[in-house]
Amino acid sequence: MMMSQATATPLIERLLAPTLTPLLWDDEAGLVMLDQRQLPQAVMVLTYTCPLAVAEAITTMVVRGAPAIGLAAAYGLALSVKQSLRQGLSLQATLTQLHQHEAVLRAARPTAVNLMACLDAQLAVLQAWQASPHANDTTVLLAELTQKALALHQADAAGNQAMGRYGAELMPDNAVLLTHCNAGALATGGYGTALGVVRATAEAGKLARIYANETRPRLQGAQLTCWELMNDNLPVTLLTDGMSGWLMQQRKVDAVVVGADRIARNGDAANKIGTYNLALVAKAHGVPFYVAAPRFTFDAALADGSGIPIEERCGDEVRVIEGQAVSPAGLPVWNPGFDVTPAHLITAFITEAGVFTPEQLTDWLT
Ligand code: MRU
Repeated sequence: MMMSQATATPLIERLLAPTLTPLLWDDEAGLVMLDQRQLPQAVMVLTYTCPLAVAEAITTMVVRGAPAIGLAAAYGLALSVKQSLRQGLSLQATLTQLHQHEAVLRAARPTAVNLMACLDAQLAVLQAWQASPHANDTTVLLAELTQKALALHQADAAGNQAMGRYGAELMPDNAVLLTHCNAGALATGGYGTALGVVRATAEAGKLARIYANETRPRLQGAQLTCWELMNDNLPVTLLTDGMSGWLMQQRKVDAVVVGADRIARNGDAANKIGTYNLALVAKAHGVPFYVAAPRFTFDAALADGSGIPIEERCGDEVRVIEGQAVSPAGLPVWNPGFDVTPAHLITAFITEAGVFTPEQLTDWLT
């Protein structure tokens, strides 16, 4: 697969500053992504020129988080046309290959609907190009797919800033917050959804502390959330996933704020495994439970959460930590990557268009 690796390049600097983003487009190099599997031990980038390698990067979690997966796939389709131009393919062969790549990217992970939404947005670009006077010029198609991916990226980051502002308004002074998994800059075009709310609360001078669940089995909370919040000098404290009930009993927690991978019309919300437990604990302690997500994460085609496909991952993610077996060999494991929190446990959705209760969603989505 066409992919290369670097540990210290100007490309890394462009990913880290002025604001952290997990991926970027470079006209020369192609799609450049932080290898999130290496964090926090090493900051490494991988450069992609092949859309099938991008699909593999999504499956193997080089890039992860619902919005970031969608953006990677959108750039992946631009790479498809760039690759066809390199290969000197005919118009027909270019389109056939594009559809093949699109199908592989769409199947790379099942739960986050942002992946499908971003690919659908690129298919609309393809259709508009096919109806245009440039329909036989694939260099124009490449320019338009690239431009759309960049626009989606920019809109996601800007939407997160708006989401953050709406979310911060909900938070009290000296807010103590709790989050799960990583719904931060690393999971999005930039700034983050749940962590965007945390950042905006801090920018408003109202953040006392943010607790981060470690998020077994892959430890996105410990490895990614804590890394990006510490880099921003935000007051983060790490917890293991089972501590949230005792935390709420013993100390003040003002709100839980998490991201989502797919939200049905009634407000049932799929997010990283363990989110449902957290929502139940929050309900038992009267702590507001907020889900921060952009419009692309809402699946208006689904009436409720029963239709959300839940990814099941390899049992070794549970059996083995950092290369060390932590359970007897051959032990059966059930490893769903996500769970669905029923709408009645969710106080409100924080979106780039404002704050909605589950009951208000249907109107917004139609
Ligand atoms: O398996 P992951 O790391 O892709 O799961 C990520 C999450 O569950 C996030 O909370 C979700 O995608 C929202 S990211 C803004």
